[in-house]
Amino acid sequence: MADVVVTDLSRHYGSFIALDEVSFDVKDGEFLTLLGPSGCGKSTTLASLAGLDRPTSGKISIGGRTVFDSESGIFIDAQYRDLGLMFQSYALWPHMTVYKNIDFALELRKIRGAEAKQRIHETLEMVDMGAFVSRYPGELSGGQQQRVALARTLAYRPQILLLDEPLSNLDAKLRERARLWLSDLQRRTGVTTVYVTHDQSEALALSDRIIVMERGAIAQIGSPEEVYERPATAFVADFVGASNLFEAILETDGLGSGKITLSSGQKLTVEGPINLPSGPVIVSVRPEKIELSAAPDKQNVLAYELEARSYLGARNLAVVKVGSQSFRVECDTIPGTPNGLLSIPETEIRVFPTAEAGGRRSH
Ligand SMILES: Nc1ncnc2c1ncn2[C@@H]1O[C@H](COP(=O)(O)OP(=O)(O)OP(=O)(O)O)[C@@H](O)[C@H]1O
Ligand SMILES: [Mg+2]
Repeated sequence: MADVVVTDLSRHYGSFIALDEVSFDVKDGEFLTLLGPSGCGKSTTLASLAGLDRPTSGKISIGGRTVFDSESGIFIDAQYRDLGLMFQSYALWPHMTVYKNIDFALELRKIRGAEAKQRIHETLEMVDMGAFVSRYPGELSGGQQQRVALARTLAYRPQILLLDEPLSNLDAKLRERARLWLSDLQRRTGVTTVYVTHDQSEALALSDRIIVMERGAIAQIGSPEEVYERPATAFVADFVGASNLFEAILETDGLGSGKITLSSGQKLTVEGPINLPSGPVIVSVRPEKIELSAAPDKQNVLAYELEARSYLGARNLAVVKVGSQSFRVECDTIPGTPNGLLSIPETEIRVFPTAEAGGRRSH
């Protein structure tokens, strides 16, 4: 049982608040990702779980055991938390072979003999490195070293795997492969995993749930679909995936439905219920949700002017102008004409309070 429960966790550095009363849980066997921009508190959270950093206040329990509680002064050292840690610097011991690297990690935990041997072979097979037992780290590629480092962590069968940007040293292609492989491995072993990244596509591809962090606080917790399709704040809409973000004026009828007025004066209907008062709002529309066509049954039809187009490989990107406003549109084919009509389904328009309104939640 490896449920992790984090309650009101804070970390202050003098007057700077790196973590501000963060609460979440990690379910047994879950792959949970902490996602957010540089400096938002991801590594601080992970180091608190690991016992490598002592938070200022709050409580952490792992598998029903309290490992940190500021009120009762409990702080269990990292080595007694039964965790598998892998940080960006995954340094293998350079003077030891792949085999010895894992064996030494097991020796430190008093796992010896046939049991150690079996675990070493088993975990190396798991990460597809069985053929490399006698190589030294200097004789392996970066990706292979990373896999050995992960095998070393998995060999002592921690109840929780804590990974801080473990794929960051790999090139884009290798990273994508490592991602598929890591996700498969996690599902096969069922080890509860907390993963840190600032790469949103990595988070979307790997996670059961994502915690999006912003300046030491949680902006949203949800499945990849929830976070992408129903971002809780303008920040999440902007950070996770691409968004057209712009200001508009909302008019609500008080019954939950409403319209927004663009800077051009044109109006778009927005699917309700809308729980915001009439006034300035931030609007988010995903580039792939705008259609560069306007069949008679389409909603929110606007005239556009094509400004730029580029080929993305499988898809095309168009930048179109509606009045003074530019929209990015991702689509399969871009019409050949410089002008046309586009449509935006009302279900795809998200409305958020402006920063000045102080609110954070969407409708
Ligand atoms: N020892 C420290 N003293 C003062 N401030 C610190 C200290 N350690 C971290 N911080 C600050 O706490 C904040 C959170 O740091 P953290 O390392 O958790 O960020 P992160 O989300 O992991 O970012 P990155 O993606 O860049 O790794 C940052 O603003 C950082 O400067
Ligand atoms: Mg970090």
